[in-house]
Amino acid sequence: MISSTANVDGIISAADKASIPVLDRGFLYGDSVYEVFRTYRAVPLFLEDHFERLENSAQLIQMQISQSREQLLEEIRRTAIEAGISRESDAYVRYQITRGEGAVDLYPDPSLKTRYVIIVKALPSWNPVFYERGVNMAIPNVRRNPVNSLDPNIKGGNYLNNIMGLTEAREAGADDCVMLNRDGFVTEAANSNVWFLIRGRLVTPGSGNLKGLTKKHVHRALQAAEMESFEEDVHVNELLDATECFITSATREVMPVVSLTLLDGERLEFPVGGGEVTRQTRQIFSDYVEAHISEHAQDALV
Ligand SMILES: Cc1ncc(COP(=O)(O)O)c(C=O)c1O
Repeated sequence: MISSTANVDGIISAADKASIPVLDRGFLYGDSVYEVFRTYRAVPLFLEDHFERLENSAQLIQMQISQSREQLLEEIRRTAIEAGISRESDAYVRYQITRGEGAVDLYPDPSLKTRYVIIVKALPSWNPVFYERGVNMAIPNVRRNPVNSLDPNIKGGNYLNNIMGLTEAREAGADDCVMLNRDGFVTEAANSNVWFLIRGRLVTPGSGNLKGLTKKHVHRALQAAEMESFEEDVHVNELLDATECFITSATREVMPVVSLTLLDGERLEFPVGGGEVTRQTRQIFSDYVEAHISEHAQDALV
């Protein structure tokens, strides 16, 4: 059993008892970056990639992280142990770096020391229907932030754009959203990447979205299995030719999409439980993860 546990700058407590000062810039302005990974047999999946992406997000907002990778990893390990992680129970690990605490002033004083907040809890248990049937998606009116405004590759503490997209989709009766950019090209779902089988080609948008690590490794797994997949622009009008759809993220892995409601209310339907390519991709990725975890057994947190 894993109990939700937090670590704020080295102070570990039950997650619902943890607190941060109100002057923290992560709280005041969403001025923070973060990562989420899951574990298998206590081994963090794609650990190195997560640290690289965290550092890239920090660089994109000109934040100097005061803590070293080694220190953060050691604190993640301490928190995971306190939470009761074991090789038998898989965990969700979120680690966030805020720009720290200072005057109530938009400008981030470069001398501020960054704060870390680590949360370890049990993996979210998705509604089994999402895998057995698939998720229902809808395209909201709100558009994804453009790259030259708030780059979706900043995995930061400001998720209002995605929250607005998700809320609109939920109000329309869907489970999640597929967000377009201003020019009508598909970007991503609220917190996952989206893939389509269009005229027999497996494609996922190459720009305007977060470079998901699941997406990166799904491409690799498919390549090793000699299946083609492509990163390219996908315009909303092309979706009328899509025959399969799925989403990918660290906690969902490969999750089928059973319907997508377009802006004009038209509902595209996809095979229940995922079509052939979606099912194959799910299996290929699952085998790839299993092999990856075995190869990285030395990274186990306990
Ligand atoms: C906006 C967004 N896109 C895509 C993803 C998927 O990324 P990953 O596969 O690394 O979890 C996430 C995951 O948190 C996300 O927040």
